[in-house]
Amino acid sequence: MKRSRFMEKLTEEYSSKNRKSGLIYSSASRYQIRGGSHNLRLFPPFPIYPVKCKGSKIWDEDGNAYIDFWQGHFANILGHNPDIVVDTLKDCFNNGQGLETGFPEKAQGRLAELILNRTKADKIRFTTSGTLASMYAVMMARAYTKREKVLKVGGGWHGANPYALKGISSYQSGLNQIESAGLPPSADSMILVTRFNDIPDLESVFKKYGEQIACFIIEPFIGAGGFIFSSKDYLQRARDLTKEYGAVLIFDEVVSGFRFHAGPVQSLYGIKPELTLFGKAIGGGMPVSAVAGDEAILSLCSPDAGKENRVKFEGGTFSGHPASMLAGAAYIEHLMAHESDIYPRIGRLGAKVRRSIEDIFSAYGFNVKCTGEGEDIADNSSLIGVQFLRTNIDKVASPEQVWNPEVSDVELREKAFKLAMIVEGFYVFHGYGAISMSHKEKEIQASLDAVERIARKWKEYRVQDLL
Ligand SMILES: Cc1ncc(COP(=O)(O)O)c(C=O)c1O
Repeated sequence: MKRSRFMEKLTEEYSSKNRKSGLIYSSASRYQIRGGSHNLRLFPPFPIYPVKCKGSKIWDEDGNAYIDFWQGHFANILGHNPDIVVDTLKDCFNNGQGLETGFPEKAQGRLAELILNRTKADKIRFTTSGTLASMYAVMMARAYTKREKVLKVGGGWHGANPYALKGISSYQSGLNQIESAGLPPSADSMILVTRFNDIPDLESVFKKYGEQIACFIIEPFIGAGGFIFSSKDYLQRARDLTKEYGAVLIFDEVVSGFRFHAGPVQSLYGIKPELTLFGKAIGGGMPVSAVAGDEAILSLCSPDAGKENRVKFEGGTFSGHPASMLAGAAYIEHLMAHESDIYPRIGRLGAKVRRSIEDIFSAYGFNVKCTGEGEDIADNSSLIGVQFLRTNIDKVASPEQVWNPEVSDVELREKAFKLAMIVEGFYVFHGYGAISMSHKEKEIQASLDAVERIARKWKEYRVQDLL
């Protein structure tokens, strides 16, 4: 079977199961670009539209039920709409709180205290998206160091922060191209890209540009770049080099914060950056993000900072939004109180899924490797990426391997396998996604049975010849 025919058949199967969603998408597209406001959610031929979500499940407009491993962009560690957050919100609205007031609410202090209780940082300031947090952090680093260049890794995604829109996922003999129009012409020379986990490359960038580098921004556990942990040595070298050259080290923990234990992943490495970004999980399902870090840097957003140094990280109508702060505080408190139940369980299930998917595909003649393994850093990794390999490598260890279509079949991962799993009743992302506390063992086993049916069918279709 040709690749195009294979994709057509899958699309027909998907579309016939989701007719109502297809119609909703058509009408949404009359008013919105491609029918929505987040491109990742608007995959072809059209997305499914949920009517209700609870725990591990989603019910959609067509009456289909799904087990969901996307779980709110991996934010929902307890599953969809957990009682702890829903009850907090009900109570707050019943008590005449919750919607925007324009006052500094007490709950902000509570969430700040909880996060700083687990993060070695002096201060924290909230905003509303990971993108904003990363943009503000870079602005503060540039103001603090009075330097221009921003160093990031190929495959690093820090939201649509204009200081980091280079070398994300578009592979062109490497991950080092500007990936957005509309940036200042200086963006290309201002943003430097180094290879993730590559110490010699990092050393050579610092040797060449060290005195001009304002900050090195990195996800210690790279998310969109393939669910890969930095090695301890690499992160330690990054810490040493940034110190040596006077650059600010920024850890983007939007994905990794509170994902592997009830705190940032940096504490599992024992490495402290100057600034840390949080997002996703810290809002308990509400839009909250934050920059935490050294007082000397964060205080640049204070009105007391001198006119020349002051960074306009000071507004945001919805920064510290009352209901969001209450939800986040209830959620983080719960993760801390139940840490020893939650993380070992979701980590054990994550490991089982990674191992099983590799074994299943291997039994049917496919070379598939799962990413997300905690290595010697995190005992409890609940994230699972699935890479369909075109080359014979034992392990997927870099974002370049994840995004280079000659190494791994990106279309099979992001389109074919996704549609096939949705048809089977499982919503997956980057091949699989995230285990949450709400997933039952039998649901996970059912998802593995679905993987087996797909692998069997794909062998019949000789899909491996299409790889
Ligand atoms: C590591 C990382 N940083 C930043 C962001 C941007 O966060 P947001 O989508 O809330 O703007 C994301 C989003 O997925 C992310 O994965």
